[in-house]
Amino acid sequence: MKSELLNALVSDDGSRVDRRIFSDEDVYRREQETVFAESWLFVGHESQVSQAGDFVLSRMGEESVIVARSREGQVHVSLNSCRHRGLPVCRADKGRANTFSCPYHGWTYSCDGALTGMPGQESYYPDIIKTDWGLVQARVELYKGLIFATFSETQVGLEQYLGDSRFYLDTLVDRRGQGTEVIGVQKWRVKTNWKMPTENMVGDVYHAGFSHRSVFDMHPDAKQAYAEIESSLNVAIEGGHGLTARYFTEGTPIQDRVPCEQQLLMLSADVLAYYEQHDQQTKKYMGELRTRIKPATSAVFPNLHLLSTTYCIRVGHPVSADETEIWNWIIVEKDMPESVRDAIKQNYYFLFGPEGMLEQDDDENWEQVTQGSHGVQASRHPFHLSMGMKGQSEVEDQCVELPGLVATTRSEHPQRNFYRHWHQVLTSQYGGGQE
Ligand code: FES
Ligand SMILES: [Fe+2]
Repeated sequence: MKSELLNALVSDDGSRVDRRIFSDEDVYRREQETVFAESWLFVGHESQVSQAGDFVLSRMGEESVIVARSREGQVHVSLNSCRHRGLPVCRADKGRANTFSCPYHGWTYSCDGALTGMPGQESYYPDIIKTDWGLVQARVELYKGLIFATFSETQVGLEQYLGDSRFYLDTLVDRRGQGTEVIGVQKWRVKTNWKMPTENMVGDVYHAGFSHRSVFDMHPDAKQAYAEIESSLNVAIEGGHGLTARYFTEGTPIQDRVPCEQQLLMLSADVLAYYEQHDQQTKKYMGELRTRIKPATSAVFPNLHLLSTTYCIRVGHPVSADETEIWNWIIVEKDMPESVRDAIKQNYYFLFGPEGMLEQDDDENWEQVTQGSHGVQASRHPFHLSMGMKGQSEVEDQCVELPGLVATTRSEHPQRNFYRHWHQVLTSQYGGGQE
């Protein structure tokens, strides 16, 4: 793609986005070399690898990685590609192992990626320095149980990368120091570009009352339910992150500000009892202000999604320019009673599981966005993301108490922020586009 075209994919203010970013193969390839090679990517949860030797297969961009806990107790993320001829050395989704052996010639690697064995080494490779030929290692950092990895040597540390998104993230993963664990995973593919789910998660309440109308209509008080989410706040966070969240006034009773969907309270009386029981401790631990914030959907750049009110944590892995594989886990607090977990699972099946009513609506919309980015005529005309702007000016911050740029749900500033950041990462490594 020519540099002028690459540099013009997103307007400076983020209000115009070229449709080809959802379909063009050159853009997709460049994303693998920049966005997915340079960012901190979510690869799993600590509870998946709690014991030495535990491993799970994960992905970073298009590539398979092994997340494993070594004998010394460290979490390592290794590229799942033999250093001899590139075969995957791990083929199981999860398990416990001392070593991973390549099926072709039998090179063997330990959980920390070190090359430990080679058949006939003395006669075939008398001079090899094995320490030079371990599995390619990613940098690894954990944030409150969430495991992130990057292949970048220059990316800032994880805490700095997450920045202000930590303020909101904690309302899901660290409410009172109780620790979390994940249940799952479910995986499904959607014929959409990976950016569409992220764009939706950073704060698209606009579609809910229209696209999910049939779901709202089943609610005992549909108008009230929709009015509630419409009165949320959209938040854009430096680094391309964003979210939409409810924000309650001081003194709001716990039953109105529980961090979950209200229908969970109908599924089990234990849900409200659970949050009542821990309310004082939660206030003390994370501050009263954050017990009044209820993030609904959030995204950490580039492809980690949190659907906090339904306890979902998911990644949209790129498969091709036109296809994304979603991996979804339910994330629960370690001390949550079984009855509360059951209510969370039921709610997930109904709403955001692969067969969920909201998920089905969303997936179909995202597929059609991608289809709508292909036509010769259609692709000549950019998408409109000006909602909330006054002329060329970005929306003003409407809540200084909360970090990030905060405004009503009638603004697409989180999407503009996401695409501007995406574009910057896509083009910066090369100092602008190349042919
Ligand atoms: S390809 Fe793995 S040992 Fe040869
Ligand atoms: Fe939706």
